[in-house]
Amino acid sequence: MSKSKRSTDPAQKVYVINHPLLQDRLTRLRNKNTSTAEFRFTLEEAGLLLAAEATRHLPTRSVRIQTPLASHKGVCLAHPTVLVPVLRAGLSLLPAFQRLLPSAAIGYIGLARNETTLAPEAYYQKLPKITLNTQVFLLDPMLATGGSSQAALDLLRKHGAHCITLVCLVAAPEGLKKIIESHPDISIYTAAIDQKLNPRGFITPGLGDAGDRLFGT
Ligand code: PRP
Repeated sequence: MSKSKRSTDPAQKVYVINHPLLQDRLTRLRNKNTSTAEFRFTLEEAGLLLAAEATRHLPTRSVRIQTPLASHKGVCLAHPTVLVPVLRAGLSLLPAFQRLLPSAAIGYIGLARNETTLAPEAYYQKLPKITLNTQVFLLDPMLATGGSSQAALDLLRKHGAHCITLVCLVAAPEGLKKIIESHPDISIYTAAIDQKLNPRGFITPGLGDAGDRLFGT
């Protein structure tokens, strides 16, 4: 079993996942010599480890089934799930989450960070039906200033989402603070909380621009 821990204030649901396989993948992703092909593959692997941890809290309900030998009371997921990658880099985490939650509906939010102002600019939105109990996973490997995640969370709220988990790979303290203050009731899962943002708004040490490294742009 991997080891997750709450960081900072225990009242806040921020989980840093210390699984050794995830930390191994994260180090490969940070390495500037990792090629685009290896980066993409490794990020998908990291996604699987993130998905296993970020789904820990999902509510279950009892279900009675018949094994080949006896009647057995087991469990199944209690509520529908929705996966929402933030375009583009969030797409890298989608296959892993789809694999573990194959019945999940999928929505997309397109946001691009303005390189001068660092403010997110929305360019696409398509979301499935979301009800009170729908368990929504917002996927974006990078939480830098937090502007993109905050905009995506605002959109999800307007669309009726109540139970939201933000899944990222690397978070900056500045971005985490912004999300904790603006959306204090969500859970956040990350593989690392890095030192800081640099003057250009990049997470340091970070792993560079995930979207550019993924798509070779
Ligand atoms: C990156 C990243 C996040 C966002 C994080 O996306 O994937 O979505 O920036 O920065 P923030 O927390 O300061 O908002 P980018 O805008 O570069 O788009 P891309 O995924 O298409 O490369």
